[in-house]
Amino acid sequence: MTAVTPVTLRRQVELTIDGQAVTAGEGATILEACRAAGIEVPTLCYLETLAPVNVCRVCVVEVEGSRALVPSCSRPVAAAMVVHTASERVRTSRRMVLELLASSVDLSTAGRDVHRWIEEHGARPERHGPAAPPAERDHAHAGHHEPPEAGLAATVAQAVKRDNDQYVRDYAKCILCYKCVEACGEEAQNTFAIAVAGRGFDARISTELDVALPDSACVYCGNCIGVCPTGALMFVSEHDLRARGEWDESRQEVTRTVCPYCGVGCNLDLHVQDNRIVKVTSPLDHDVTSGNLCVKGRFGFEFAQGGS
Ligand code: SF4
Ligand code: SF4
Ligand code: FES
Repeated sequence: MTAVTPVTLRRQVELTIDGQAVTAGEGATILEACRAAGIEVPTLCYLETLAPVNVCRVCVVEVEGSRALVPSCSRPVAAAMVVHTASERVRTSRRMVLELLASSVDLSTAGRDVHRWIEEHGARPERHGPAAPPAERDHAHAGHHEPPEAGLAATVAQAVKRDNDQYVRDYAKCILCYKCVEACGEEAQNTFAIAVAGRGFDARISTELDVALPDSACVYCGNCIGVCPTGALMFVSEHDLRARGEWDESRQEVTRTVCPYCGVGCNLDLHVQDNRIVKVTSPLDHDVTSGNLCVKGRFGFEFAQGGS
């Protein structure tokens, strides 16, 4: 009997994006169609390896005939759809999102794109006033939010959580994109060590009952660090180099290798500065691991540099 190779053909859908005729596979998202057409749409909570959670709303676009702006990262394309990615309505909405984030969160280690989007959309976080003094966030009770003094901008400022040797949690830099929760939960690790606690402005990422990481269910896979877009979750090694003003990506080399610890063969990208491994990432497009690692691949690099 002749072997039959299954072929999956996706019906093609024709739509218009910013006046340009675009063809996309049925089921593709508007974001995917935009990217294929070379049209940039900002994203914060989206990652190609995670199911969209639709929380940041910075990717919204205008679809003719739709009352509300739609999140392009999750809305599928449809035949004859007419999409505008840079209309005044879209830009105003994105500006508001970026401005509120930048007025309340420390974005100093967020990617360069985030700062470019803030500038390109004319967001002016400073107009919300000077930062209010840090408030106690970890024990905020839902329904008992205390707004700051009039004229001051509420922020998520708080002390860095450093309770283990592997990574720090600096939630003053957290935009609440949920990616770490997804990666720790059913999208990758299935450990469920962290979740969102609280409501509204008091919402925050927390371990169960806010216990320290070593007392939580965390297995130190670091998959949450791998997806965090702002540097809120960071290797201790990177955090300490930054604190000493010595972190310098222009002096770093990234070498891809295969994890030596077991037969799975995860790819490791070793980030090396001054002949020392300063952090380990894994490529998102690896068809076995999709950027995820275990504690050995992520943090077990000290044996290669004398265990110190
Ligand atoms: S290191 Fe792994 S187990 Fe621990 S919180 Fe992050 S994703 Fe969850
Ligand atoms: S810690 Fe990072 S990944 Fe987690 S919600 Fe905050 S910004 Fe997103
Ligand atoms: S990137 Fe689409 S809602 Fe966040």
